[in-house]
Amino acid sequence: MAVIVGFDYLTKDAEFNFKDYQPEISRIHKMIEEKTGEGAEYLGWLHFPSNHDEAEVDRMIAKANQLRKDYETLVVCGIGGSYLGPRASIEILNGLFPTDKMEIVYLGNTLDPNYMYEAIEHLKKKKFCVCCISKSGTTTETSISFRILKELAEEKYGKEGARDAIVAITDKEKGALRTLSDNEGYTTFILPGDIGGRFSVMTSVGLFPMAVAGIDIKAFIEGLKEGEVNYGVEDVMHNASYQYALERHLLYKHGYSLELVASYEPRLALLIGWMQQLFDESEGKNGKSLYMAGATFTTDLHSLGQFIQDGSKIMFETVLFVVEPQNDVTIPYDEDNLDQLNYIADRKLSYVNAKAHDGTLAAHAYEGNVPNITIQVHKMDAKQLGEIYYFFMKACAMSAYLNGVNPFNQPGVEIYKKNMFHLLGKKGY
Ligand code: PA5
Repeated sequence: MAVIVGFDYLTKDAEFNFKDYQPEISRIHKMIEEKTGEGAEYLGWLHFPSNHDEAEVDRMIAKANQLRKDYETLVVCGIGGSYLGPRASIEILNGLFPTDKMEIVYLGNTLDPNYMYEAIEHLKKKKFCVCCISKSGTTTETSISFRILKELAEEKYGKEGARDAIVAITDKEKGALRTLSDNEGYTTFILPGDIGGRFSVMTSVGLFPMAVAGIDIKAFIEGLKEGEVNYGVEDVMHNASYQYALERHLLYKHGYSLELVASYEPRLALLIGWMQQLFDESEGKNGKSLYMAGATFTTDLHSLGQFIQDGSKIMFETVLFVVEPQNDVTIPYDEDNLDQLNYIADRKLSYVNAKAHDGTLAAHAYEGNVPNITIQVHKMDAKQLGEIYYFFMKACAMSAYLNGVNPFNQPGVEIYKKNMFHLLGKKGY
């Protein structure tokens, strides 16, 4: 099992007996399995790992290998659920200064003209290909970026060449990107209609960009399958995902309205971003919900640390900790020792990071009275990452249903769009 959840450092008032809640967990577990709860039409992800279309995965790997051979930059164009999963996965597994020869650029996730201008100027000098991800095909940020990218690709390679360079991930039958792709003859991969954006990293949305980034997506799928088995257990005492869901729910009920998810690795920042979308978009409804925020330690200990330790007692912390880093560095010995670091000379940086973690946990939990949940992962590789995603998705479904909300819709995010379209003069708004 990739994930170990610990509750050792919880304060007295946050210690609950999980067994007492088994009837409620069982009720929701059955509701999820039997697809009888609100929003159940979007439970396609539940058994997607074990029902993967192998032929589609092989087709993805073949196209990804061709792109890796023929191009130097991949532009991933998408936003929200059509962006965070692939980027989080690539950053975790390839790092923030990747040695892989395929550069990845992300577009479609902002309306900032500076970002767009700089990206275009950069891409003009690169042999780039594009993976446009959109279920609807009408998301403003993605559509504007893709229109620009399509024009750039056609100018650079001609119509025929652009056809080779562009891949679309979208609905099987409907939507603007489907129509456009069919008309243009682009290679497409399917984003299943019964899987919402924030649950889609296990589909071509995550898999194809990861494959182009050189990641072993078959191992990733194996991890997802393990997640489906490990976190498909009804017994809360044997299901770490349900334990996490239950603990955070009970903490919320006891007055903690903010969950700060922190890691000790900058490469996990986007995973926390993905978690924020998953939990906040699934749970932030009906005026009653826990808010998930993110932090990277030790960086943020030098800023947010003050509030966590001493500020209003509104939060509990969930710490993602990877025991074995992909890489490590030794602290050198220095004859002069002017920085007084020789007491840790020849130590690994992972050792210092682990001590920072232990010291912080004790400070925040024991002295600061901030309940702490630890999610410990032995190491981060493609397989473990697949299992971790599944762990959080299952926890999210359980947690939202525990709080009585539909985990799978997002009515709130439409309101700003309506206003924006009205202000832009779009027909019908
Ligand atoms: O979770 C969601 O539904 C959203 O974040 C969407 O994924 C995001 O708005 C992008 O939508 P689309 O894939 O239709 O472009």
